[in-house]
Amino acid sequence: MNKVVGIDALAAYVPKTFLELVPEKKVDGKYVETEFCKSRRLAPAFEKCGDLPSYIADGVGVYQFGVPDGHEDSVTMGAMAFKKLIDDNDLNISDIGRVFVGTETPVDNSKPNAIYINGAIERHFGGSMRNCTPVDMKFACAGATVALELLGEWIESGKSKGRYGVAIATDISTYPLRTREEVTQGAGAIAMLVSENPRLLAFENGSEEITSTVSKDEKDFFRPVTQHTAVVDGQLSIGSYLSTCKEALLDYRNKAVSQGIIAAGGLLTDNVDRLLLHLPFYKMGEYASSALFKNEWRGTSRFDEIVKEIGFPEPKNGDKVKEKDFEKKFRESKIFKEAFSQKVESGLLASRRTGNIYTGSIYASLMSMLENDARKGTDLNGKRFGFGSYGSGSLFKAFTARIQPEFKEVVSKMDLLKQLDERNSKGSLSLDDYERLHEKGMVKSDSIIEPHQEFVLDRIGNTSLDSGYRYYRFVD
Ligand code: CAA
Repeated sequence: MNKVVGIDALAAYVPKTFLELVPEKKVDGKYVETEFCKSRRLAPAFEKCGDLPSYIADGVGVYQFGVPDGHEDSVTMGAMAFKKLIDDNDLNISDIGRVFVGTETPVDNSKPNAIYINGAIERHFGGSMRNCTPVDMKFACAGATVALELLGEWIESGKSKGRYGVAIATDISTYPLRTREEVTQGAGAIAMLVSENPRLLAFENGSEEITSTVSKDEKDFFRPVTQHTAVVDGQLSIGSYLSTCKEALLDYRNKAVSQGIIAAGGLLTDNVDRLLLHLPFYKMGEYASSALFKNEWRGTSRFDEIVKEIGFPEPKNGDKVKEKDFEKKFRESKIFKEAFSQKVESGLLASRRTGNIYTGSIYASLMSMLENDARKGTDLNGKRFGFGSYGSGSLFKAFTARIQPEFKEVVSKMDLLKQLDERNSKGSLSLDDYERLHEKGMVKSDSIIEPHQEFVLDRIGNTSLDSGYRYYRFVD
C-alpha cells in the first residue's frame, strides 16, 4: 500500500434508556433478582438455566442492554454518532465524500438510512453534502466492516481527492420476548472517520486487499422483511462464527507472512498486541478468542502445558460432551487466561452494558479497549490490533491495524464508557415500558425521557404521498 489509510476517529451513541437484567453489584454474595429475572424465570426457554441472574450475568455475560426510546430508531442513533464525530473533529461536512452505513435494521426498504442521516446532519449543521454518496451496506453484523474496507480502498486509490469517508454502524438487536436470546439484545451506533494519514489506526495490508474474507451461504440468523425480531439458531450461529473466524484468521496469517507483516512461522495471536472480535455477548468473546488461541497453539509447548493442566488430551473422536469439557477447561487454563486478560478482555467490558449492537459491536469493543487503556494510562503507540468481524448468513473479515502516534488526543474525546456511566435511574426501564418499546417495532411512541439536544423521529407520514415517510428533526 502506498498511502497510509485507516480510522482517524470514532464516536459512539447509546440510548439513555436501558433494561437492567442483573445489577452488577452482588448483595451478600448473590445477584439481586430484577423484575425481568422474576418474570423470565417462569418462561420455558429458561427452564434449565438454574439460578437465572447468574446465568445471565456470568453464563452469557450481560448486565444491561440499551433500548431505543419512543422517538429513536437506527437513523436517529446513527445521526447522533455522526454529529459527535463532526463536533469532536471540527469537520466541514462538505469535505465528506462518502457516507456508508452498515445496518441490518434500516427504517425503509428503498431509501437508505445514509441519506436520512445526511439530511438530518445537513439541516442541523447548515452546510451541504450535495456531492456526497450516501449508501447502506447490509451484511448482518459485518456491514460496517465492509463499509470501512470500501472507504479505505477508495481513499487508497487516490479517487477521494482529499475527501473523508464516514462509516456508520447503527443497529437495534431484537429477538422475540421470553426467548433465550432475548438477553442478548441491545442498541447503539458508532461513526468512524476514514482518512489518509489517520491519527488513530492505520490498516496494514501491504499490496493486498485490506481484509481476508470468508463467506458461506448459511441460515444461522436472519430477519425476514415482515418481521422486526430476528430468527436465530443459537448453536448454529456460534458454530458458524467460530469456523469462519478460524478460516479467515488463518488466511490473514498466511497473507501477513507473505507481505512481511509477520515473520515466517509466526503466529497471528503472538503478533497482535490486542484482538477484537465481533461481540454479540461477553461470553462469545471468550468462545471466539479461545478457539483462535487453541487453533494457533496446537502443536506448541504451550499447548502441551495446557493439556497437562487440563489432565486429558484434546478429544478427537467426535465426543461432543468431552470436547465441550476440554474447551471449558482450556478457557480456565492459566496460559489462556493470561493471554485473554492481556489481549482481549478490556474490549469486552462495555458490551456487558450496551448489549449486542450488531454491526457496531466490534467497534464499540475497540472503543471499550481504548478508553479502558486510557483510564489506566497505557501507551499504545505502535501497537498492532487484530480484528475479526462476523456477520451471520455468513461473512467473516479479518484485518490488522497499527495504533498511530497521535492516538491519545483522539481517544481523549471518546466517551462510550462515560455515556454508559452517566445513564441514570431515569433511563432504567420498568418491565412494562421495556416490553412496550420492544413491541412498538418501527412506529414512534411516547418518550420515556424527554428529548434534549438530540435527533428525534418527529412523525411518520400518513397521506397518499408520504405514507410511511419518516420525518426527523433536532430538538434543542
Ligand atoms: N450460572 C452461571 N452460568 C451458567 C448457568 C448458571 N445458572 N447456567 C448455564 N451457565 C453457563 C453455561 O455453562 C455456559 O457457559 P460455558 O459455555 O462456559 O459452559 C453459558 O452459561 C451459556 O450457556 P448456554 O447453554 O445458554 O449457551 P449457548 O451457547 O446456547 O448461548 C445464547 C445461549 C446466548 C442465548 C445463544 O444461544 C443465542 O441464541 N444467542 C443469540 C445469537 C448469537 O448471538 N449468536 C452468536 C454467534 S452469531 C453472531 O454473533 C451474530 C449476531 O450478532 C447475532
